Amino acid sequence: MHASSSPAPVYSDTAVRQFALMSVVWGVVGMLVGVVIASQLAWPDLNLGIPWLSYGRLRPLHTNAVIFAFGGCALMATSLHVVQRTCQVRLFAPGLASFVFWGWQAVIVAAAISLPMGYTSGKEYAELEWPIDILIALVWVAYAIVFFGTIGIRKVRHIYVANWFYGAFIIAVALLHIVNSAAIPAGAMKSYSAYAGVQDAMVQWWYGHNAVGFFLTAGFLGMMYYYVPKQAGRPVYSYRLSIVHFWALIFTYMWAGPHHLHYTALPDWTQSIGMVFSLILLAPSWGGMINGVMTLSGAWHKLRTDPILRFLIVSLSFYGMSTFEGPMMSIKTVNALSHYTDWTVGHVHSGALGWVGLISMGSLYYLIPRVYGRTDMFSVKAIELHFWMSTIGIVLYIAAMWIAGVMQGLMWRAVNVDGTLTYTFVESVKATYPYYVVRVLGGVLYLGGMLVMAWNVWMTVIAGFSRPSPIPQTAIAHA
Ligand code: HEM
Ligand code: HEM
Repeated sequence: MHASSSPAPVYSDTAVRQFALMSVVWGVVGMLVGVVIASQLAWPDLNLGIPWLSYGRLRPLHTNAVIFAFGGCALMATSLHVVQRTCQVRLFAPGLASFVFWGWQAVIVAAAISLPMGYTSGKEYAELEWPIDILIALVWVAYAIVFFGTIGIRKVRHIYVANWFYGAFIIAVALLHIVNSAAIPAGAMKSYSAYAGVQDAMVQWWYGHNAVGFFLTAGFLGMMYYYVPKQAGRPVYSYRLSIVHFWALIFTYMWAGPHHLHYTALPDWTQSIGMVFSLILLAPSWGGMINGVMTLSGAWHKLRTDPILRFLIVSLSFYGMSTFEGPMMSIKTVNALSHYTDWTVGHVHSGALGWVGLISMGSLYYLIPRVYGRTDMFSVKAIELHFWMSTIGIVLYIAAMWIAGVMQGLMWRAVNVDGTLTYTFVESVKATYPYYVVRVLGGVLYLGGMLVMAWNVWMTVIAGFSRPSPIPQTAIAHA
């Protein structure tokens, strides 16, 4: 990339700083709710007989908080950070960026109030009712204007690949949200979907899978393409591969949704298309992972001493693992065993905790000291501790769910010679109990790591008030 000859601009980082801090705050909140619902599954008495705190209401609160609040704020912080550095300009319309920040926080607070109250559209990952959906659409359009506006006024001719991924994430999420949330209002907090029956299910899982593909993957790949090379001090392994990776990934993801609806009323050929595209998806996913990991060529030794790099690279290993597992689970005969079991939940969290969580944490550890004008985080030892707590937490969580899931699937399908079921359902629930307890342990470790991060971030931010900033904002190089 060629930088312009004019002096480096002073970046507009207020929204970046705000989103970065709120990502950490919402991460703690969302994971705490995760630990609460994991505990409720092990010890149902913890529902306490209070509707607001019941599992059914807290579960969507957990998913919304971790995906859209923790993940969303991390994506917005990093995208607005990366787009300025790679375009060598200040943010387009910083005032609008401020609206994006406050608007997004308003959406999160509205979710945190309305979900425990029991308001829900009933669509997974799109539970929020129509007035909140409209606010989301407004905020998202403003976000798109800020992001693409910045690209529009760039001083560097080339659009760096990280921006392609962030851009695809922003456009696709707008499309998914507007189409899937189309509904007829029937009251201030009640609506009916614009679609019915199996069409509704198909639109929902077209949305659901692309929420994985674009919200939980494409944007985080944008992070990978900027922060891995930065932290490793190496250029992207293959820029050509990154372009092939981009087009192959976004084309393929769009078709894979029906794998969520195997053996349903959806026409069989549609299910088969979903399965075939899911299998094809392995190739671009692994192409991207290899591109990220191989960026470390010649810098592998840094992994020994650099815990931030370890966050980034281990996240890519989990990305590789979950994008191998996903295509396998999309095979109809495998899905016949895995569907409805905790295997799916294990798969989700190897992607969510391993990939989404770790890449966000690594990127935030890179970003936060820089946007606060520090050379490094307050405590590198604390980053190291966080890394081990979260990695061990993930392994406990997903190993417990894999064993529980396969066990449940096998117990449910076991039949005696006379054709009767070998096990009652409640026997499978009882057999799952120890694994639910192990999951709680894993979750507590993961949450504990996030608390260590919150402390470290806090100390980094306040440290600057007592010591002068060692690096000027303008000195931060672009990719
Ligand atoms: C401390 C960490 C966490 C714990 C203890 C935890 C726990 C849980 C539990 C108990 C469930 C419900 C499972 C079920 O219904 O059987 C769940 C669902 C879910 N969680 Fe987490 N979670 C954590 C972190 C995260 C993070 C960081 C993300 C995303 C970035 C995430 C995304 C999800 C999703 C998408 C589901 C729905 C899964 C499905 O429908 O199959 N979780 N989580
Ligand atoms: C090549 C990539 C992937 C493929 C083909 C894939 C495939 C699948 C399949 C077949 C299921 C089970 C559907 C069911 O039985 O209901 C599933 C569930 C899920 N996957 Fe993946 N997966 C991939 C990557 C990922 C990644 C990287 C993440 C997270 C970051 C993720 C998050 C989820 C979630 C949240 C669900 C649960 C949806 C629900 O039922 O609520 N997947 N995936």
